Amino acid sequence: MEDKKIKELISYGREFMKMPIEDPTYRSDQELKLPQPPLVKKAMNDKAIDLPTNFDDLNISSDFLKIINDRRSERIYTEEQMPLLALSYILWCSQGVKQIKGNNYATIRTVACGGARHQFECYMIIQNVEGLDNGFYHYLPLSHQIEYLDTTNDLKWFINEALGGQTWANKANINFFYSIVAYRVEWRYGIYAHRVALIDAGHITQNVYLAATSIDLGACAIGYINGELLNKTFKLDGNEEFIFYACPVGMIKKSETDSFDPFAFVLSQR
Ligand SMILES: Cc1cc2nc3c(=O)[nH]c(=O)nc-3n(C[C@H](O)[C@H](O)[C@H](O)COP(=O)(O)O)c2cc1C
Repeated sequence: MEDKKIKELISYGREFMKMPIEDPTYRSDQELKLPQPPLVKKAMNDKAIDLPTNFDDLNISSDFLKIINDRRSERIYTEEQMPLLALSYILWCSQGVKQIKGNNYATIRTVACGGARHQFECYMIIQNVEGLDNGFYHYLPLSHQIEYLDTTNDLKWFINEALGGQTWANKANINFFYSIVAYRVEWRYGIYAHRVALIDAGHITQNVYLAATSIDLGACAIGYINGELLNKTFKLDGNEEFIFYACPVGMIKKSETDSFDPFAFVLSQR
């Protein structure tokens, strides 16, 4: 790439991170009283599966400081079966809907989000989770269900492709893929929406990390994704809705992961 192009892209990236200068004449669609988009995406089929919520049956650590101190990116998964309750717990802690405010105005969830727009959808590749077929899934946050979408004959190959060759992730029981439904946040924040939207995403994976740590699972946020492949697979148009973030979560054995240097590991996998 030419130096000029690189400089342009860097400058574009920096501008994107700044709060745009406020224009008093600008009105967002919400201010213009245009109809509000739906709070969540509709079910994509009729194959919804109820998730258990008896979280008291999980051995959840209540030592908050220990969870904070123990949290780290875990990339070595044992491939043992994950209980369905653990999957349900991670989904609840990272995207669960606690309340609906106003006349379907906003969902209040277990994570913070600018203007409570919650502009994300959560897709998953699930492997070896109790009672579930391996394959592609979508979370239905209003009913705390997941829906089975599809599968492919080589999910591990697919995960390698989807995450730019980060092959360690293909042993995770769940690979979360987060999409943004752009207008859900643009309706309220318009030209200011995109910066806020990305800030919001960090809250989701931080809760995944902390929830996983609290029940001895391992998680690792992933920014490097093959968006085109993922959008096609989950039937997203790539403009109104597109995948931008991932997070594998898997069963781990602490004694095995304690002793290794993650930086050396990541470098050796490249
Ligand atoms: C936005 C984001 C993107 C990341 N992308 C990757 C990635 O593509 N591959 C990877 O192995 N780790 C990824 N990580 C994990 C970081 O490498 C990790 O958080 C960092 O090295 C600090 O280690 P710790 O999480 O164990 O404290 C990402 C983390 C974040 C928050």
